[in-house]
Amino acid sequence: AVDLRQRNLLTLLDLTPGEIRHLLDLAAALKAEKRAGRERQRLRGRNIALIFEKRSTRTRCAFEVAAHDQGAQVTYLDPSGSQMGEKESVRDTGRVLARLYDGIGYRGFDQSVVEELGRCGVPVWNGLTDAFHPTQVLADLLTMEEHAGRSLREVACCFLGDGGGNMARSLLVGAAQMGMDFRLAAPPSRRPDDDLVARCGSIARDTGARLLITDDPAAAVPGADFIYTDVWVSMGEPESVWAERIALLRPYQVNRAMLALSGNPRVKFMHCLPAFHNRATRIGAAVYREYGLEAMEVTEAVFESPAAIVFDQAENRMHTIKAVLAATLGGAE
Ligand code: CP
Ligand code: NVA
Repeated sequence: AVDLRQRNLLTLLDLTPGEIRHLLDLAAALKAEKRAGRERQRLRGRNIALIFEKRSTRTRCAFEVAAHDQGAQVTYLDPSGSQMGEKESVRDTGRVLARLYDGIGYRGFDQSVVEELGRCGVPVWNGLTDAFHPTQVLADLLTMEEHAGRSLREVACCFLGDGGGNMARSLLVGAAQMGMDFRLAAPPSRRPDDDLVARCGSIARDTGARLLITDDPAAAVPGADFIYTDVWVSMGEPESVWAERIALLRPYQVNRAMLALSGNPRVKFMHCLPAFHNRATRIGAAVYREYGLEAMEVTEAVFESPAAIVFDQAENRMHTIKAVLAATLGGAE
């Protein structure tokens, strides 16, 4: 039996395929419980701290709703709301919070910070770093499974665009762990690092995953069930990379022609969100002004099409984070 009590979730590399399977099954069960109006609270009396050094809508709200549904209480520390890093070390902050809280969710920059926090003595969950976004990938795996209606081993997912970012890196790990057919199309300068590719390659040898990394969408997209993309510039990256990134990643934009390249009339479009598919945001408007681009990684036509399942992904953030909380903080089932 799988027992994740008191464990951290810092990257999906930390889990076995069986443990990931357990979290996905638990998430599906918790989702069904909630929908049927018969949710059982497994976390009554627990206290959870969220330390976020970057902005968030989905991740923060998913943690808060999941905790509330399960009877736990949450303290949210916003990007300027704690002493951590400014006046107190990460290690000391972790040791203080571990005396008060049963678990800590963290969002920030360096993976080393969430790893340091992870030694504080209570479960620590990575809510996004520059390197990994594991709770997002759990939601994505559940969403793919729901839409495909078959095992992830029989699912082909293609990521296009910023292959060096936290989403591409995390999806590569998740796909390797779950034995999927995963293709990544990105320019050579924006690929996951060799160490990570080697680690995923060795996981794939055990799980039967097929991993392809290429710079050519025409080699990666045909036959895909799911086409996934992420922003071209991530939180925390300087403004100075915009021009270069846009020039580099334009050929990887997910538009109608890219969906058609799959040759699959039922292909679905995925994105962790937020997405830049129009000018309706400050950044979207600025990119339009400076580069004349109406949309970046995905066009409005694709984002608003029936192929897009991005809001199913967003909802599943909550069900999967709830599974992580219940599995790591709950009692024995
Ligand atoms: N997908 C995601 O993590 O969104 P937020 O930045 O809103 O949390
Ligand atoms: N790569 C994006 C993901 C946001 C959920 C970022 O880090 O900003």
